[in-house]
Amino acid sequence: MTHIFLYGPPGTGKSTVGKTIARNLTLPFIDLDRVIENSAGKSIPQIMEAQGEPAFRDMESAALKNMQSEQPSVIALGGGALLREENRALAESNGQILLLMAKLNTLVERLLSEEGKRPLLAGDLQPKLTALLEKRREHYNSFPLNLHVDEKTAEQNAFAAQILLGRHHLSAMAEYDVIVGQAFSLTNSRDVASQASSLTYGNLIVTDENVAKHHLEKFAGIKSFVIPAGEEHKTLETIHALWKAFLENGLDRKSTVIALGGGVVTDMVGFAASSYMRGINWIALPTTLLGMVDASIGGKTGFDLPEGKNLIGAFYPPRLIVADAGFLSTLPERELISGMAEAVKHGIISDPELFDLCTRGMDWVKANLEALVKRAMAVKIKVIEEDPYEKGFRAALNLGHTVGHAVELVSKFELRHGEAVAIGMVIEAKYAQKIGLTTQSVVEKIEAALTSLGLPTHIPEGMPRDEIIKAMRVDKKKNAKAIRFALPVEIGKVELVEVTDLEEVIED
Ligand SMILES: NC(=O)c1ccc[n+]([C@@H]2O[C@H](COP(=O)([O-])OP(=O)(O)OC[C@H]3O[C@@H](n4cnc5c(N)ncnc54)[C@H](O)[C@@H]3O)[C@@H](O)[C@H]2O)c1
Repeated sequence: MTHIFLYGPPGTGKSTVGKTIARNLTLPFIDLDRVIENSAGKSIPQIMEAQGEPAFRDMESAALKNMQSEQPSVIALGGGALLREENRALAESNGQILLLMAKLNTLVERLLSEEGKRPLLAGDLQPKLTALLEKRREHYNSFPLNLHVDEKTAEQNAFAAQILLGRHHLSAMAEYDVIVGQAFSLTNSRDVASQASSLTYGNLIVTDENVAKHHLEKFAGIKSFVIPAGEEHKTLETIHALWKAFLENGLDRKSTVIALGGGVVTDMVGFAASSYMRGINWIALPTTLLGMVDASIGGKTGFDLPEGKNLIGAFYPPRLIVADAGFLSTLPERELISGMAEAVKHGIISDPELFDLCTRGMDWVKANLEALVKRAMAVKIKVIEEDPYEKGFRAALNLGHTVGHAVELVSKFELRHGEAVAIGMVIEAKYAQKIGLTTQSVVEKIEAALTSLGLPTHIPEGMPRDEIIKAMRVDKKKNAKAIRFALPVEIGKVELVEVTDLEEVIED
């Protein structure tokens, strides 16, 4: 893991936002200006007055060099700290740089409350700040990762920053990091090995036959075990094979297993890890879109019985999730589209902007995969943080799944998981309209978004309705009297509703 540098004009709240990010990620926070003041024994205005700006910039360079040996931290930089090419190169090679930006009025307002601390702006603040921004416009614009902080709280800005950076820390069931993006690209297996060895020793990587073909060679040096691909192998038999492989590879209670694959692999490896020697560590490296935005996050692990999906399982989160969208380059188109169903679902649950992004079609999606993964994962992370054990709102994630799981099962897995969920979302939205919970326009928007991505929205012709209803009853989300559905109210809002008449849900 590497540093996070927050950069941008004075007054953008680099320290306040930085402290919040640091707290969220359980990382140390460093304010580079304070480091310089402490080592000089003077305030920055005093340094500027006594020694001039070039001397201060030298001190900045030295302080930045020293940061190389610090443990990963969130570091707030002075507003001109990266003007020197040498400093910028140092920061770039030691972490991610996020530029914070705000409107002039916001900056002026904030800076007026801190008068005396900004020597370059002393005196007539507004014209000086305008001139400073103009002078540095090109420089600030050259940072690709940027966030506008106006009219948002430090908490909101910190979360938005974390989405852009692809860095999260979950404190749900256990403490673990989620890292998204190629900044941690897995082209070199040592990245993963070092992450894993920081947790423990004796790693084994488990993957399926398709993923192995494309990506296993990147993990040379780690022992591996390959399982057959596909939902039909998400069985006790495969779990048994995993336990045996753990034993044969000498894994003990301190070992870590790495799951490299889609939701089938992460669900099963997580479960096998939860039960092997009463629980060993595991790391999730999702390789499907669905795995990244949904299956790998939240600690639900398990396998299927012939009677239904995921009927046996455990809440057992991984110790680390690394989602590298680079893996998706080898994913078959149908699987990528299937994964989009869960991204649409996350948009409907609580992120209308994400939903809008999902309506732009597959070409846009393919060109913006990493950004989409970051955004969609953030929705699930937030839900899991609030309700890890599905005592309440986490059930919203079941949107489309009650009908979806049943249709998937009855299709004998001819339908991909996401395809079945897409059908489920439309059927459930129509039911929500029928009971007056939502409007026709919401139903149409959901259907149009899914169709534009190439996802199915109707129960396949000839699929027996009674079998779907039977499968819904076996679904693990039933309770004694009724089945609880997550139903859409509007884009960005769902409600949990107890339903007794299942025929009414799926009738046309
Ligand atoms: N635990 C949870 O919270 C949760 C949430 C949603 C779904 N799930 C589960 O996830 C499963 C579906 O996950 P999935 O859609 O990822 O299915 P999957 O794991 O079967 O992967 C889909 C297919 O893509 C192949 N594949 C995976 N990554 C690849 C890559 N990078 N390149 C080429 N081929 C690749 C796989 O071999 C497989 O054939 C279901 O079993 C579902 O129940 C779990």
